[in-house]
Amino acid sequence: MRAAIIHDAPGDLVVEDVAIDRPIDREVLIRTRASGLCHSDLHVMDGLLPIPLPAALGHEAAGVVEAIGPDVTSVAPGDHVITCITHSCGSCTECLHGRTWICERRQELMRRGADATPRLRLGDRPVFQLGGLGAFAEQVLAHESSVVAIDPAMPLDAASLIGCAVLTGVGSAINGARIRPGETVVVIGCGGIGLNIVQGCRLVGAGRIIAVDLEVTKLEAAKGFGATDIIDASTCDPVEAVLDLTGGVDVAFEAIGLTATAEQALAMIRPGRTAYLVGVPPATSTFALSGTALVMQAKGIQGLFMGNSSPAVEMPLLVDHYLNGRLEIDRLISARITLDEVNDGYEALRSGGTLRSVIVFD
Ligand SMILES: NC(=O)c1ccc[n+]([C@@H]2O[C@H](COP(=O)([O-])OP(=O)(O)OC[C@H]3O[C@@H](n4cnc5c(N)ncnc54)[C@H](O)[C@@H]3O)[C@@H](O)[C@H]2O)c1
Ligand SMILES: [Zn+2]
Ligand SMILES: [Zn+2]
Repeated sequence: MRAAIIHDAPGDLVVEDVAIDRPIDREVLIRTRASGLCHSDLHVMDGLLPIPLPAALGHEAAGVVEAIGPDVTSVAPGDHVITCITHSCGSCTECLHGRTWICERRQELMRRGADATPRLRLGDRPVFQLGGLGAFAEQVLAHESSVVAIDPAMPLDAASLIGCAVLTGVGSAINGARIRPGETVVVIGCGGIGLNIVQGCRLVGAGRIIAVDLEVTKLEAAKGFGATDIIDASTCDPVEAVLDLTGGVDVAFEAIGLTATAEQALAMIRPGRTAYLVGVPPATSTFALSGTALVMQAKGIQGLFMGNSSPAVEMPLLVDHYLNGRLEIDRLISARITLDEVNDGYEALRSGGTLRSVIVFD
């Protein structure tokens, strides 16, 4: 089967033939139908997030189950499914507390043991799967816990974006920050993730929702997803602008992955409130925080992973919201492309103007 592989980082993807094994144990083999281009894969291509190479990238996908391992119970061949990089065992301390997104066995479930035949191979070389998936590929072989069955009425191109952008964004608002009706919120960075934080805030009735970005197209899109105010950070100091508008917000989200904008988020919140980091900073970056300011103003800073959401619980709900007209996904799709156009799709994300490109498979 054909898959987009990264051999060197920084570097582009090479679409090539990769050997894929049959499902064993709790594994599921999926025929991919759609796969979205998230910025996290671009971090890997830019050399900012090191992973074992060669690797199959792509993690935001939807498709149809082709085959299952003997121990799979939650999906069957023919089911329409969404993938997720969250893997969970169901029995560790975190899983038992319902925090499946930080399962203690996540890393272990993302790949087979060292003695087993690798799921993906290029000749004799094992191919690492980003997030245990590798979804810029005609087929995905993944652990059952990273696969969720959905209503077949859901269009699979829109469904793919629930795999990361929608789950992460809406989940960050609802499950991560637990936004309450009327709260004033700022979202810094309005790409696929930030726009979904905006719409998650709208869904739960936030009051003022302020969107910050450097691109006018993203800010215009943010209005469509529920932003009440927009700030073009290319023309002003966004911290001053937010403080002028509000005197300080109840909740701030950083959805880019830069330390500078994380510091902005912290400066925008009122004392006693929390800034949430959703963007993934480069693996080598560190923060310079004033401990005194944090303590004397009783401020918090917290990372959120995959919207602090349990996919098996949240994905069917998000599908239901979409099918009932409460959730916007179609307008996130700027372009439908082929697998061979994946590098062009990432170039478009880099150069701006694109919300999400989605690879659509025949
Ligand atoms: N926490 C998680 O679980 C999780 C999940 C998925 C993605 N992510 C991360 O979220 C981040 C966003 O992903 P995305 O796919 O939405 O990316 P994206 O490229 O679509 O969006 C980023 C946005 O930030 C804007 N931006 C860049 N610099 C800015 C600045 N200085 N001020 C204001 N806006 C600025 C860009 O114009 C763009 O609109 C990435 O770091 C990604 O790795 C995190
Ligand atoms: Zn992602
Ligand atoms: Zn667990």
